[in-house]
Amino acid sequence: MKAYHLHDDAGVGRLVRADVAKPEPGKSEVRIRLEAASLNYRDLLILDAAGQGGLNGRVPLCDGAGVVDAVGSDVMQWRVGDRVAAAYFRDWVSGPFKRGYIPSALGSRTLDGVLTEYIVLPATALVAVPKHLTSVEAATLPCAAVTAWHGLVTRGGLSKGDTLLVQGTGGVALFGLQFAAALGARAIVISSSNAKLDRAKALGASILINYRDTPDWDVAIMKATDGQGASHILELGGPGTYDRSIRSVASGGKIVQIGVLTGFGPKPDLARLQWENANIIGVTVGSVEHFAAMNRFLAEHAIHPIIDRIYGFDEVPEAYAHLQSGSHFGKVVVEL
Ligand SMILES: NC(=O)c1ccc[n+]([C@@H]2O[C@H](COP(=O)([O-])OP(=O)(O)OC[C@H]3O[C@@H](n4cnc5c(N)ncnc54)[C@H](OP(=O)(O)O)[C@@H]3O)[C@@H](O)[C@H]2O)c1
Repeated sequence: MKAYHLHDDAGVGRLVRADVAKPEPGKSEVRIRLEAASLNYRDLLILDAAGQGGLNGRVPLCDGAGVVDAVGSDVMQWRVGDRVAAAYFRDWVSGPFKRGYIPSALGSRTLDGVLTEYIVLPATALVAVPKHLTSVEAATLPCAAVTAWHGLVTRGGLSKGDTLLVQGTGGVALFGLQFAAALGARAIVISSSNAKLDRAKALGASILINYRDTPDWDVAIMKATDGQGASHILELGGPGTYDRSIRSVASGGKIVQIGVLTGFGPKPDLARLQWENANIIGVTVGSVEHFAAMNRFLAEHAIHPIIDRIYGFDEVPEAYAHLQSGSHFGKVVVEL
């Protein structure tokens, strides 16, 4: 079967095509014929890290969807032909997060991912694809959508009448916006592009701020919300956005700490958080259980992921370059 492998000596692309043996499922495992995979910002970081070695031969990407192709003898819940998506953490099925789940992230330093024709996973690491979604659409869900869902809805309790701030118009941000719109919450979007802000408006955002033209976007948010601020914030930027996020949060509000778009290790001034009785919710994606709950919501509200562009298997380096350019609106997908 065809796959891509990471390599440290493959030039700037660091992505090499490989022909490898088709894997066989064990007793409690399922083999999936992947139909699509999507890219996330973390895959750019992993591609970068591949340059330092230690990732040679790893299959990249964590987000994939396809069709069950073979099942082990003990598997009861899946049948050949079922449409499924793989969860981000193979081992986080339900219950609270445990540090030990980290090495079970697909397409990571420790585990192969989904940029391959077939993958074998435990039967417990899969969710059914909602009927209204194609495999290309479902492949956008495991990381970006589950992260936004787990942070905003499961942990953040986002609901009607709340005000959500999302930063940029990438994958996590647009899922957050779509959840807010479906729940009847008001949405604020900050973006580098007026054209993207227009598209965010069409998805239900009502306060639109260009962070290039308005670097003091926290001041603009306070003005636009009559001094109230945002009850929920998807903190995607890190050091470059954190202080402004804290200055944008409403009394009793929640900052969902997720992203590293401007780097790692924010050192924010937390004083205002105390005075506003506000909260920080740290999130690493979510569990299979979160994924399944989110899929029920997607089906109930007929939500379709926003897909920017679909690439072919031969165009994977171009797909990475497109994500790297930051010109995308929503998700970048590879059709397998
Ligand atoms: N903790 C977790 O479990 C978890 C899970 C998923 C993702 N993440 C993190 O969340 C972040 C977003 O991931 P993603 O995959 O959705 O990324 P993405 O699709 O690549 O989105 C990138 C977009 O972010 C916006 N952006 C960049 N710099 C910004 C800034 N300084 N201020 C505001 N917006 C900015 C830009 O939008 P515009 O062009 O509109 O300006 C850019 O196009 C990443 O840091 C990723 O590592 C964390």
